[in-house]
Parts: sequence; C-alpha cells; structure tokens
Amino acid sequence: MNDLDALVQSARELFARAATPADLENAKAQFLGKSGRMTELMKGMAALSVEEKKTRGAAINVAKQAIEAALNERRHELAEAELQRQLHAEALDVTLPGRQRGTGGLHPVSLTMERIEAIFGSMGFEVADGPEIESDWFNFTALNTPEDHPARSMHDTFYVEGGSEKAPNLLRTHTSPMQIRHAVQHVKRYKALAGAPADGLFSGDMPEIRVIAPGRTYRVDSDATHSPMFHQCEGLWIGENVSFKDLKFVFTDFCRTFFESDDLVLRFRPSFFPFTEPSAEIDIQFQTGPLAGRWLEVAGSGQVHPNVVRNMGLDPEKYIGFAFGMGPDRLTMLRYGVNDLRLFFDGDIRFLSQFR
Ligand code: DAH
Repeated sequence: MNDLDALVQSARELFARAATPADLENAKAQFLGKSGRMTELMKGMAALSVEEKKTRGAAINVAKQAIEAALNERRHELAEAELQRQLHAEALDVTLPGRQRGTGGLHPVSLTMERIEAIFGSMGFEVADGPEIESDWFNFTALNTPEDHPARSMHDTFYVEGGSEKAPNLLRTHTSPMQIRHAVQHVKRYKALAGAPADGLFSGDMPEIRVIAPGRTYRVDSDATHSPMFHQCEGLWIGENVSFKDLKFVFTDFCRTFFESDDLVLRFRPSFFPFTEPSAEIDIQFQTGPLAGRWLEVAGSGQVHPNVVRNMGLDPEKYIGFAFGMGPDRLTMLRYGVNDLRLFFDGDIRFLSQFR
C-alpha cells in the first residue's frame, strides 16, 4: 500500500469513528484543513521535477477526492442517523385509541322526572315549576293545615329568614303549595276573561286544571330512607265532574306505564291529609319480579278539600277534583332496584354511570 492509499484509509477510519457532525468536522480538518495532511503533501511536491509533479499531483488529487467522498458519505450517514433518532423520538402511534370526552348522562331521578312528565303530558297534564323557598301561607295555611299541626314544628321544617311573622319563609316541605300557586294563576286568567271580580270565588266556566309540579322538597330528616332534600311530584286535576274514579283511572294508567307492567295492581288505603277529604295512600303491587306480592306505598292522594278549593279562588259548590303527591326518589328505587336512597346523593360515578 502506498502512502496515499494509507492516508485515505486512515481518513476513512477516523471519519467512521466520528459520532457527531462536530467530531466529523474536526476529523476533516486533520486531512483537508489549511494545515492538514493534504496541504503538507502539496507542499512536499515543491522539490519534484515537472514530470514527477504531474503524476504525483494526479495521485494526490485522486486521494483527495477519495477523502472528500468518504467525508460526504459519513456526513450523510450522521444526518440520516440524526433524522432517524428524531423520527423515533417524535413518533406518534396512530393506532392508539383516541382520547375521548366522557359522555355524561342524566341522574336516575332526573330520568324518572322526565318519565313522569312524559306520561302525564300524554294525558293532558301541564308541567308547573315553583319556588323552593316558600311562604308558610302556601306551604301550610292555604292547604288547610292548622296552626298546631306537627308538620309545622321546628323539628320537621327548615325555617329561613325573610317573610313576615305571620307568614314566615321556609323550605317547602312538599310540592303541594304548587296546587294553590298554579290554580290561582289559572283561575285569575278565566276570572278576567269572564269579567268576574278578582277576589270572589269563581263559579263561571273555565277549562279544567290539569297539572303536575315536580321538584325538590325539604324536611329535617336523615337516614337510609330519608334525606333532608328529596323530590316530590304533585298532581292536581280540578273540574266540574272530576271524581275519585278519575284519580283511580289516571294513577293506575300512570303506574302501569311507568313500570311497564300491565298486571300491576293498585290499592287505595284510607288515610288523612289536611288538604284532602277523603284521603288515601296509594300502594302498588307487582305480580312478577323481585318485589312481587309486596304492597309498596308510592303516593298520597285525595279529593281536594273544599277549603283548599276556596283558597284557589273557586266555588267548591261548582268545582271539585283530586290531588296526589308522589315520591320520584322512591319510584326510581323501585324501578331500578336501588336499596339505599343515599346512593342518589353521594355522586359516585360508578353508581351514576350505570344509568347512562
Ligand atoms: N303533600 C303530601 C306529603 O308530602 C303528599 C300528598 C298527599 C299530596 C295527598 C297530595 C295529596 O296532593 O292529595 O306527604
């Protein structure tokens, strides 16, 4: 091997050892730089004859080109390695599943509320909404509930600031005040249309009142089956000829539709409420399934008391009807087989996501 071949070879080896572009440029300087080996070789030609210069010069040129070629090749290798490293570092696995937004869902009690509204809506009932901070007049007095009734005690009711001494404010203990609020609005409209006095008892004609009022209610109560906040849905149907038979029909139809069970049986058990006379608790009984054979209480009901009809601004000699109040929380527990009311208010996603 002559000296030039050895030089090219050592350049190749040095370039191959250069691990970074900076190393490589340093190695290059040793061979092709101003005071590198090539320059030295050129200087070494000064002493040669013209003929020798020709052949030696040509040979040096060939060696130089070989070194430059080796340099470029190594440059490409290093650039390619750098590119691969970057591609690897920034790689995206497009086969991974995408990140999704979790889909939310309605709370099971909201699902029940929607279901109740849809079913009664199909039977011609309006849906009304009213305040949760209520006056003692609408919550108790207008509903024929006497001053000394235990429901009015501090132990059962959350009284809140505001209101007057005669009619303090409270968190409504039931949705029944909506009977008065809705009926008064309804009657006011038809009194005005008939030109009847605003404050008398109305005995003119008007369309029937048919309404449900779902919402939150509050009582001083807390255990596995009672929560200080719970839900109710009130129902009211007032007309000239509305009877207990209508209540039975409507409520039976509602329960069978709600629970999707045609052989569900209802029982009206005599009871007492100040705002209805007569009054009844409504129990249901499934004929199949895990609860079959047990009587389960789902609502209070009754024919609206004449004093309450009067507080609606109506003449009880002409207008009569029935009311009911049911517990959507209870209906939800029965429909889905939930055995602890507190699950509805704990906010545990593992429970709630089952209703999506
Ligand atoms: N408001 C009653 C309660 O909370 C339930 C109730 C009973 C509502 C009879 C009614 C009714 O409308 O007629 O216990």
